[in-house]
Amino acid sequence: MRFSPRTTLVCLITLHFVAIANVDMWARETPHIQMQNGTGEFIVDGRPFLIRGGELGNSSACTAAEADRIVPNVARLHVNTILMPVAWEQIEPKEGSFDFSILDHWIDVASENHVRLVLLWFGSWKNAFSNYAPAWVKQDTRRFPRAQAADGAPLEILSALSEENRRSDSRAFRSLMHHVREKDGESETVLMVQVENEVGYLGWGRDRSEDANTLFRGRVPDKLITALAAKGRLSPELAAHFDPHGRTWSEVFGDAADEVFMAWNYANYMDAVAQAGKQEYRIPMYVNAQLPAALESAGKYPSGGPHPYYLEVWRVAAPSLDFYSPDIYWPDFEYWMKRYEIPGNAVFVPEARMDVASFNALYAYGEARAFGFSPFAIDAVEATDSPAPGIMQVYQLLESLEDLLPAAQAEGKTRALVLHKTSPRLTQTVALGGYLFEAALSRSWPERAVIADHGAALILESGPGEFYILGSGLTVNFIRDPDVDSGSAGIASVEQVTRRGGNWTTERWLNGDQTNQGRELLTDPHQPRIYRVRLYAIPSGRH
Ligand code: DGJ
Repeated sequence: MRFSPRTTLVCLITLHFVAIANVDMWARETPHIQMQNGTGEFIVDGRPFLIRGGELGNSSACTAAEADRIVPNVARLHVNTILMPVAWEQIEPKEGSFDFSILDHWIDVASENHVRLVLLWFGSWKNAFSNYAPAWVKQDTRRFPRAQAADGAPLEILSALSEENRRSDSRAFRSLMHHVREKDGESETVLMVQVENEVGYLGWGRDRSEDANTLFRGRVPDKLITALAAKGRLSPELAAHFDPHGRTWSEVFGDAADEVFMAWNYANYMDAVAQAGKQEYRIPMYVNAQLPAALESAGKYPSGGPHPYYLEVWRVAAPSLDFYSPDIYWPDFEYWMKRYEIPGNAVFVPEARMDVASFNALYAYGEARAFGFSPFAIDAVEATDSPAPGIMQVYQLLESLEDLLPAAQAEGKTRALVLHKTSPRLTQTVALGGYLFEAALSRSWPERAVIADHGAALILESGPGEFYILGSGLTVNFIRDPDVDSGSAGIASVEQVTRRGGNWTTERWLNGDQTNQGRELLTDPHQPRIYRVRLYAIPSGRH
């Protein structure tokens, strides 16, 4: 059969568009991160998805049977996504022979319970150490070299410089992603993957193996110097040391050289692993960081991990990673959140303290515009506990707002307030929609004693002068924002509301003693609730 040149051209153009459409379809249908107005949205099934997460304890997903016990309980906590470890030793007990039966059962049970999964790849490293690598890797220290301490002692940490380590981990991870795509690519129970866990070198400053010493004495790759020099802004810690005119690691990074060297090598390794996985299944992949404690030196915390000081080095080395996440156990939750709110980085907290999770979650979604939050050891919480666990109450309320929140986040129409009895700050104020919201911890009446140890609220602006405030433990005053005009603020109404299937119900109209005679919002001291507050502006000079 012969075609005229015109027919051939039409066919080629059609094929071209079909190919583009397929690529688009792939990009549209697979979970992915989308930056919207500076907010990182997680798109699942074509819509922004808010992860109400919970991470399992380290040994909780090591048998199939545990899924039957744990998943239904966690699902009742209004968690919509479970973060679960998948260990290299579990899936590749013998080199080259893979067993995914435990994971498969977890995927099946999660799917039956309408819960999604984030897989945590415990491959070469878990909290710096290599204890989840299979025995055939751990035992063969010649083939799979370790990082070394300053005195030459080999550590229980696989070397980030070894080609063989990287190749074997990448192969296992690639098999995992191949399997997940085959089993779950249609139903998308598995949404994304954390590559390794809290990596970095524990010991004096940096790996002192012969290979590491040789590389460290050599030149810093031009790619790194050029990319850092081209960045408008570096973190203060990196900017304080970076000299683009130097050649060696010590010349270019001064006192930070050991740690930046480790960051570069870990990031390159992790990029290779993530890239291998994405060749099989292109879903978001991220890394999590153990954060430095105050005054702690590198090596006491995992040196070279993806914490904020040297994150720019990671971003140059690891384009296959979609975003960087903090595990926040330190008290200053807000400070660490802010350090990850950097241009282009979608905000997700894979691990956080359970005892204050219900407060910090509101801060994460409302103020840091996170697409997800996840307290650690969720399987230790019982859905049958009475009163209901705090995070369960907050997640239940957030669930009722989940179709409203992402758009509000992306439009800059959310804020949050968090106060603790132990913090030096007595009040906190944020601005939204022409008003200031000034919060203090709930007090008793008439004694005026503080009666809440913690208070938090997420504020969502739903229209001019109309706000939904989800929280507890706070008294909130409303002030006209002086940056907008010089008027004052009045409260038109305060309702305690619930929302089901997109429909709002007013449970109580609050006024009189319940609003301090129309002057403030008094949230319940302990029980998280949603309030609808309508405000009006009183122009200055008129009464
Ligand atoms: C951080 C780690 O990433 C988790 O796996 C777990 O070990 C917690 N610390 C604390 O137990």
